[in-house]
Amino acid sequence: MPELIPILNKNDIDHMVARVARRISSDYQDRELILIGILKGAFVFLSDLVRHLTIPVKVDFIRVCSYGSDVSSSGNIRLTKEIEIDVTNKDVLLVEDIVDTGLTLSYIVDYLKTFDPKTVKICALLDKHERRSENIKIDYACHEVDKGFIVGYGLDYNENYRNLAGIYHLKL
Ligand code: IMP
Ligand code: MG
Repeated sequence: MPELIPILNKNDIDHMVARVARRISSDYQDRELILIGILKGAFVFLSDLVRHLTIPVKVDFIRVCSYGSDVSSSGNIRLTKEIEIDVTNKDVLLVEDIVDTGLTLSYIVDYLKTFDPKTVKICALLDKHERRSENIKIDYACHEVDKGFIVGYGLDYNENYRNLAGIYHLKL
């Protein structure tokens, strides 16, 4: 049986999401912010984040598939759902569950830049360092982890565990 080792509970997560939302609300005051959630993993984080923001925002989603093993992305990335809001000359904030190698986000940033947004920044629930290969700047990271496979609060292993309220280290 896989073992779930708790990293952050519901209360910890609520505090860190509120903290990052305060920074975003202050940095984007009087601007027109478009949040783009990366499906599926970011759906829980994004839904809490928007309710902590004190500025008006628009929300859209993008979806990419990456073919690799269960626990790592291959860099072979394909876009399966396009954005639907016009981001040309707009401030865009990408919302991701976890940044590992950075391949997914660098692909998405390149895709978004073809629409000529005014700015593109990145907000990630988790910043996982160990296997980073791309030089990408995570503007808003809620929490950093060194390594391991993380599940819960939207993050899955083979589509399981997304519904857990806490964040766990999965030991296979
Ligand atoms: P990257 O392209 O290597 O940065 O991987 C990013 C994507 O892989 C994320 O959007 C996640 O869906 C998935 N991923 C990477 N690490 C984990 C993890 O520890 N738990 C769950 N999903 C992960
Ligand atoms: Mg995933």
